[in-house]
Amino acid sequence: MANLNQNNEREQWGSKLGFILAASGSAVGLGNLVKFPAVAGKNGGGAFVLVYFIILFLVGFTLMLAEIVLGRHTKLNAIGAYRKIRKNWAWVGGLGVLAGFMILSYYSVIGGWVINYLLKSLTGALKTSDAEVINQMFGSLVTGTVEPIVYHGIFMLATMIIVIGGIGGGIEKSSKILMPGLFIMIILIALRSMTLPGGVEGIKYLLVPDFSKLSIGVVLDALGQVFFSLSLGMGCMITYGSYLGEDTNIPQSATIIPLIDTGVALLAGLAVLPAVFAYNLDPNAGMGIIFKAFPAIFAQLPFGNFFSFIFFLLVLFAALSSSISLLEVCVSYVVDEWKMNRKAAVTLLGLIIFVIGSIASLSYGPWGHIKFVAGLNFFDSLDFISANYLLPLGGLLLCIFVGWVWGTDNAIKEATNGGKLTFSLASLWVILIKYVGPVAITIVFIRSLI
Ligand code: PFF
Repeated sequence: MANLNQNNEREQWGSKLGFILAASGSAVGLGNLVKFPAVAGKNGGGAFVLVYFIILFLVGFTLMLAEIVLGRHTKLNAIGAYRKIRKNWAWVGGLGVLAGFMILSYYSVIGGWVINYLLKSLTGALKTSDAEVINQMFGSLVTGTVEPIVYHGIFMLATMIIVIGGIGGGIEKSSKILMPGLFIMIILIALRSMTLPGGVEGIKYLLVPDFSKLSIGVVLDALGQVFFSLSLGMGCMITYGSYLGEDTNIPQSATIIPLIDTGVALLAGLAVLPAVFAYNLDPNAGMGIIFKAFPAIFAQLPFGNFFSFIFFLLVLFAALSSSISLLEVCVSYVVDEWKMNRKAAVTLLGLIIFVIGSIASLSYGPWGHIKFVAGLNFFDSLDFISANYLLPLGGLLLCIFVGWVWGTDNAIKEATNGGKLTFSLASLWVILIKYVGPVAITIVFIRSLI
């Protein structure tokens, strides 16, 4: 039962900073560096960012607090937390663990691509601005059979090794290296990108809203992005909260973590879009921005290899600090409920996720003709179902659970450490979790289905 320490107590974060770094490490990931600039690019930049902010304030902070509070109160994994308060709600936690499982399966494949590009930037293979060569390089990696699976395996192995180390010794310790490294590197890359001639256009694109671009699709994308980026709606923050000590100031943590996440997302936009505009590339190129546009840009700069190496190392750090949290959600459940030891749980789950991820990887290559949901291949179906449906649905059910079933009085009691802390926005939070959150998520859902 290795969620317990030697004194048979549940493992805990070593320090408040350790928790903040680990939780923001979970939040900051491929979602910020790869998805945010891509989704913002697709949805007209500033208009998307504006909607993102509104949803962040209405739903993001609210659910972050709710998840952490629920975790610390029950000191259990996502499924156990719901079950402890209301037996027949355990399935909601189950949806979350399922979402974590699905997300990690394809997330790790992208992590593998990042490792491959990191090595390519070391060998100088990315140093070409020939668009044809760059397209082909990315295409031949992702449509390959063995190569992408090997890199996915390496990424998954790294994730497993950290999670085997446990909460303090594995996740917290690694976050203390990954997160500060990430901050330094993203600032460096953003400064380089924004000072490129013509880069100002990219800054404007990101920050000046064009309201004609607003549509329900933009709102749905922003909602999904808030959930994905903040690691909400699948019990990740319940799990991380379950390792918190009694003295943590949860309202403060639940404010800092989303702020760090959003800060990094904006910095990522400022790192990516100015460079894309400076070189007249397409801001609407999806994930291709990272793997195709960036190498092309760096190739033309002095010290290009150095910058692309730093860039892919940054993406790798961000991806790892998130993948460990995705795995921890599943591991915590198996350790708590099946009474398996941590090492065995990580090995078992890691292997299963490796196999499912390998199928996802093949669905970009030889198995690309097999379609699953909405005409998408297996890889994109995993992403579509988990990020667009399971996370917002999990968030909606969490609002109902905390707002109406467990009750906001109980939640506030936990959030204020039994009345010892002041939580000045408590009455606003009650309105947000009981009414605004559920109504907003439901409306966006229904509109998107129509
Ligand atoms: N927040 C991560 C990102 O932005 O890449 C992805 C993620 C991690 C989603 C953990 C959900 C989660 F529970």
